Amino acid sequence: MIKIENSLILISTNNTSLILNVDEVKKVNIVYYANKIESLLGAKSLIRTYPYIEGCEVSYDKNHNNISLNRQKNIVSTVGKGDNFSPSLSLKRDDCSVFDFIYDSFTILNEYKLDSLPTPHDYSEVGKLTLKETKLNILLNIYFFVYADCDVIGVSEELINNEEKDILINKISSLQLPLVNEDYELITTFGCWAGELNVQKEKVTRGKKVIESLCGYSSNRHNPSFLIREGNCSFNSGNVYGFNLVYSGNFENSIEMDAFENIRIQLGISSYEFNKVVKQKESFTSPMAVMTYTDSGINSMSFNFHRFVNQHVIEKQFYKRNREIVYNNWEATSFNFTESKIHSLMKKASKLGVELFVLDDGWFSTRNNDTSGLGDWNINTKKLPSGLKGLSDYAKKLNMKFGLWMEPEMVNEDSELYRNHPDYVISDNIHEKSYGRNQLVLDLSKKEVQDYVYKSVFDTLKSADISYLKWDCNRNITDYLNKSGTFFFDYITGLYSVLEKLRKDFPDVLFENCASGGNRFDLGMLSYFAQSWQSDDTDSYQRIYIQEGAGLFYPLSTLSNHVACKVSNQMLRYTYFDTKFNVACFGVLGYELDLDDLSKLDIENIKAQIAYYKEHRDVFQWGRFYTDSFISDRLEKIVQVKNESETIVARYQTIQKPFPKEAHLKAFDLDKNKLYEYTSRKEMIPLKKFGGLINYVSPIHINPEGSIITVISKYKGMDSEVDSGICYGSSLMSTGPVLSQEWSGVGYDERVRFVSDFGARIYLIKEYTNDLHK
Ligand code: DGJ
Repeated sequence: MIKIENSLILISTNNTSLILNVDEVKKVNIVYYANKIESLLGAKSLIRTYPYIEGCEVSYDKNHNNISLNRQKNIVSTVGKGDNFSPSLSLKRDDCSVFDFIYDSFTILNEYKLDSLPTPHDYSEVGKLTLKETKLNILLNIYFFVYADCDVIGVSEELINNEEKDILINKISSLQLPLVNEDYELITTFGCWAGELNVQKEKVTRGKKVIESLCGYSSNRHNPSFLIREGNCSFNSGNVYGFNLVYSGNFENSIEMDAFENIRIQLGISSYEFNKVVKQKESFTSPMAVMTYTDSGINSMSFNFHRFVNQHVIEKQFYKRNREIVYNNWEATSFNFTESKIHSLMKKASKLGVELFVLDDGWFSTRNNDTSGLGDWNINTKKLPSGLKGLSDYAKKLNMKFGLWMEPEMVNEDSELYRNHPDYVISDNIHEKSYGRNQLVLDLSKKEVQDYVYKSVFDTLKSADISYLKWDCNRNITDYLNKSGTFFFDYITGLYSVLEKLRKDFPDVLFENCASGGNRFDLGMLSYFAQSWQSDDTDSYQRIYIQEGAGLFYPLSTLSNHVACKVSNQMLRYTYFDTKFNVACFGVLGYELDLDDLSKLDIENIKAQIAYYKEHRDVFQWGRFYTDSFISDRLEKIVQVKNESETIVARYQTIQKPFPKEAHLKAFDLDKNKLYEYTSRKEMIPLKKFGGLINYVSPIHINPEGSIITVISKYKGMDSEVDSGICYGSSLMSTGPVLSQEWSGVGYDERVRFVSDFGARIYLIKEYTNDLHK
């Protein structure tokens, strides 16, 4: 809902309001962003006025010696009129450095689509605030997209030059939000390849903190999403603001605080190598920044963003559409496979209950390692004589869909594409090129390259019955020649234009986003890709950190996770399949290990996992997500998913201690007065896990490292403890029922919980419907 009254503009979602005020010098300020206000009655009381300005500050003009832009809550800040914060908009003209924007108009639009950039769909309203330069014919439109149902507001800026002379944009933030410090803590994410989305917490202090990417993509260094919370805000209560950007390239997000604890938050494209010339009658539109607010803690903030992504960012046809359980051959075979190996994996995957078989890298051209073939998207019939069509038919016969890997933006020098079109790669034509994984980046800022990429994907998808595409991107951008001044922006909008066309051509094919894992995981990519491969790190303990960071801002339906072999390729950590499943099931489940190596016990185990997942798929993919702590703060972490009919809670342990604490099953958001039944998922503990303890029960001596136990462990496991019972919601939400005694060095039977290092359990909670009085 948008209302305009006198100098005030009220922009509300179901539970929040943003208030803009046009002050006496016609500057527009954001004076309020918090809980919903029904009308503008009394809103004037939210505006701070200054009787005078202080010290060396300058007044905006000689008639207003009480107004300094340095103290105002400006919606946009430029330099040269007394605002000493970093500008949110930095412009230049050969005869002018100072730009001064004041209120012109505010209108409500029925519809608006951002130029060349993704616009999250199904907004309730769009408000257009127009600011004008005081002396020059330059306009700045600020669009407010209201996503009322999920309490998200999107903001984008458009600069229009109606002057004869060119203007140069050096920086344009999509959003500037002024706030006053309330003991705020800033929570951002940092990472690297195979270690994405780690949570970082720090007090907001005076000065400026910038989180940015200069890699060409949104990157795994920092995700564009972040939040600030009040000092006393927990996961379930307290004031918190969340932010993100609907953009996949270099970005620049910052938080700056001055001596008076005035804060300015900015989100936008990076100003690094950004010099946009806007000629007469031309305009430039910034990507959408989004924000949300809640007084109910971090889980609620996440819930707002999760609904926003599910209902407004991902394409409508994928909302609530079941995501298939995937098998992907990458960690099993890498490039080394034959058709008979793929057939064998397909048969085994189908018997386990897998629904979608994905053929990863190595299926095309001369691609038998990562030095050649990239860019030439013709099937290698030496390796795969029956071709993509033959393989997709084979999958169909086995009752599975077929999916494929491509890396369309890249090329190896040893490829036909490069030999014919060296001009397609990004290069400054002066320096030696820099290589990442032996490959170069195609210059998607060029139309002819966009056409090539579009055609290669189009032809491949048309060549067989392909229901899924994993779109990879394995190196950052270097060697650019920024002739246009906006090279990085042009690359990303070039990519968006290719994706826009492909999505229209193949609306039912599920595109999965991947960039060496999570090197380009953002709301821009999610606008075309309904899910995203989180990380090349399939170690489940590491994955808890990744899911924790991702889960703050992105819903489970977009997070794709695979159970890989027990010894992690990335961490060399040994983890049991059940623990791997207990982590991977929160989101879109897949498997990525050599199925020809599975023991009989492993097969039974995986079949049981897949059956469990299918039974509870809706809650794992679309349920509301909750957590209770950051894993770095505790020895265990609880995550929960919940829909109308069921709740599933996971308890993840870090390190086993010899003095385990009494453990309780705790859940969130149940009905206090209802009775619930809870049951742990039954797991199979391989006998080998007990090491030398096996000899306490064995009639003959068994070498714990020897072949006898190895063979027995392939066939026999021990059932895990069963924790089940009934309990009131009020209790589950406070102390919770007591769980079985955790193993602490003595005695083992079915009453003992044998979790150990990096172990986990999951519990199903359902309303208890049996008649208690029978
Ligand atoms: C990087 C991806 O993240 C992996 O999952 C795999 O697809 C490889 N690329 C293939 O080259």
